[in-house]
Order: sequence, then C-alpha cells, then structure tokens
Amino acid sequence: MNKFLESIKEKAKKLNKTIVFPEGDDERVVKAAEIITRQKIAHIVILGDEAAIKQKHSDADLTGIKIVNPKTIDIAPYAQTLYEMRKAKGMSLEEAEKLARGEMYLGVLMVQMDEADGMVGGAMHPTSDMLRPGLQIIKTTPGISTVSSCFVMVMPERASSFGESGVLIFGDCAVNPSPTAEQLAAIAIASAESAKTIAGFSEPRVAMLSFSTKGSAKHESIDKVVQATEIVQKLVPDLKIDGELQFDAAVVERIAKSKAPNSSVAGRANVFIFPDLQAGNIGYKMVERLAGAEAIGPICQGFRKPLNDLSRGCSVEDIINVTAITAMQAAVG
Ligand code: ACO
Repeated sequence: MNKFLESIKEKAKKLNKTIVFPEGDDERVVKAAEIITRQKIAHIVILGDEAAIKQKHSDADLTGIKIVNPKTIDIAPYAQTLYEMRKAKGMSLEEAEKLARGEMYLGVLMVQMDEADGMVGGAMHPTSDMLRPGLQIIKTTPGISTVSSCFVMVMPERASSFGESGVLIFGDCAVNPSPTAEQLAAIAIASAESAKTIAGFSEPRVAMLSFSTKGSAKHESIDKVVQATEIVQKLVPDLKIDGELQFDAAVVERIAKSKAPNSSVAGRANVFIFPDLQAGNIGYKMVERLAGAEAIGPICQGFRKPLNDLSRGCSVEDIINVTAITAMQAAVG
C-alpha cells in the first residue's frame, strides 16, 4: 500500500470524527462503512432503510454503524433549517420538506446541524447533486468565495520522481466549469493549502497550466492564467507559484531549463492548476487511466464544513480514502 494512503488512514483514526454516507442503497458504500468502522477510521452514519440494508448485507458486520431512514425520520427540523436558509431565495416550506427527504440534502443538513462532521457522497449521484445542497446550505468558509476541488494523484512507483515523491495535486477537476481569473486564483490558493493540510507537502510549488510557457503563445485564455498568477502573488506573496506554464515545463527539469530558466517552480511543481474544467477533468482522468495513477478525490475545498464527492465509478477503497481525508478536513475546521 502506498505510504500516503496508509498515512491518511492513520491520521483519521486519531480524530474520532463522524461522517455521513447518504447512499445506503450502494453496496460499495455499505462495504466501505463496515471496513471503516472495523478499522476505527471514523464513525459512520448511513442513510437508508435499515431492514433492507441488513437483509442485503446479511454476511456483513454492521455493528457500530448508525442507519437513519430518510423516509421515516422526523423531517420537520431538517426542513425548517433548509427553509430558513433558502426562503429569501423563494423556497417554500413544502419544497424544503420534499428536498430534505432526499438523501443528499438530508446528509448535508445533518452536517449543517452538527449531527455529523462531514459527508461523503456521489457513488450513485452526479457531482452537481452533492455540490448544489452543499453550496446552498453549508456555504463557503468566511473569506473564501469560491468552492473548488482538487485530486491527490498518487503515481505508480515507476513515476515516483514527479511531484512530491510521486504525489501531485491537481485542481480544479470537478467544480468550476469556466473560472474567472479571480476564481482561478482562489483555486490555486485553496489547492496549495490542501497540498499542505491533506498531502503533507512542506512547500507547495504551484504551476498555473496553459498551452503556452512564459509568452510562447498569445491568446486571451492565456491572459486569464497570467492574471490569476498575479492575483495569487499579490494575495499570498510567500507562495511559490509561476505561470503560465505548459505541463512539460512544469514537471520536467530539463524542459524547464530551456522554456522557463528563471522559474522557481518550473520543472519541480507539485501542485498543478488547470485553466478550466474541460482541461482539468480530462487531464486527471488521462493520468489515472493511462499512467495508472490513483486519483483520490475530488476533494472539495472552500466549504465551511467538509463535503466530498465520489466518482460513480469509485471503488470501496476510494470511499475509505475520501472518508479519511474528510475526517482530516473536519479536524482542520
Ligand atoms: N463557489 C461558491 N459558490 C458557488 C459556486 C462555487 N464554485 N457555484 C455556485 N455557487 C453558488 C451560487 O452563486 C448559488 O448561490 P445562492 O443561490 O446562495 O445565491 C448557490 O451556490 C447555488 O447555485 P446554483 O445556481 O443552484 O448552482 P449552479 O447552477 O451555479 O451550479 C455547480 C453549481 C453544481 C457546482 C455547477 O457549476 C456544476 O454542475 N459544476 C460541474 C460539476 C460537474 O459536473 N463536474 C464534473 C464531473 S466530476 C468528476 O468527474 C469527478
């Protein structure tokens, strides 16, 4: 097992956090809950029909897992919380009651109401079904206006010279379809912070990616990347960041020497910021599928309390890893 993956589980075990899994109908989710509980990585609350889950998983040991049925729970307090938060946007109490019965909204409301420290969902739902209640209810950390995401990319042994001993941070690959320069700057700052708090990098080195290196091409989409880099340099002068850089110049020292010889980041970047979601989403999936990297995430950044998404193709191990990271985010506060 990769050292990084082992270390996040060990860290999570010390935190004693409670994480809600809204998708009790998914077999991988129940299996992950069983392993997490047995290994004491976190306390798990599953949303679903207890009798049906126990019947379907008759060979599983579900001792210690709390199961809450969204269909029979007293929904009034959750609906009232949602209504209070969204009435100014035109939501009626009836609408709030209907939405709160849905497992993704109920899970987010449980986090909002301190019944859980975080949520991990998305094994059966598209990313937007997790993000929208999160954006509406949990909202952003004070001082942060953009929720974004990053992946921790764990490269196979043969590629361990890249990034930080083979661990790289990619952002944003899941949330913001067309970020402005300001949003791109926010993504870079949040991803550098995640590199420290989640991946344990002592010195994040951020490459703002483009199809151009230091003026080698001209286009308004490149201007946005340059502008975002300048915004970050003003806001966080201590952060090592450079852009615009092509991926090869960011990651290969020999190429950095010829394309960006004066850069303190080029050739040794460990945090990679894509210019938009098309590039980011395609990019992380290519590295995962063609290079055999383990893609952990998407890890959401900027929510006031941690909510994390899963890919619908996720494995049991993916759910366990994201849960450990969610517990770590809950501890950072
Ligand atoms: N940061 C902070 N606030 C935001 C953000 C953001 N990134 N995006 C929207 N908001 C706010 C809105 O301003 C709105 O605020 P308000 O209603 O309180 O005034 C609130 O959040 C809800 O916004 P909606 O209009 O309901 O949501 P929107 O239509 O803007 O959609 C979403 C937001 C769901 C994140 C959308 O941008 C999206 O679908 N993104 C792509 C997700 C995706 O499909 N990813 C790819 C797959 S992931 C994978 O492959 C692993």
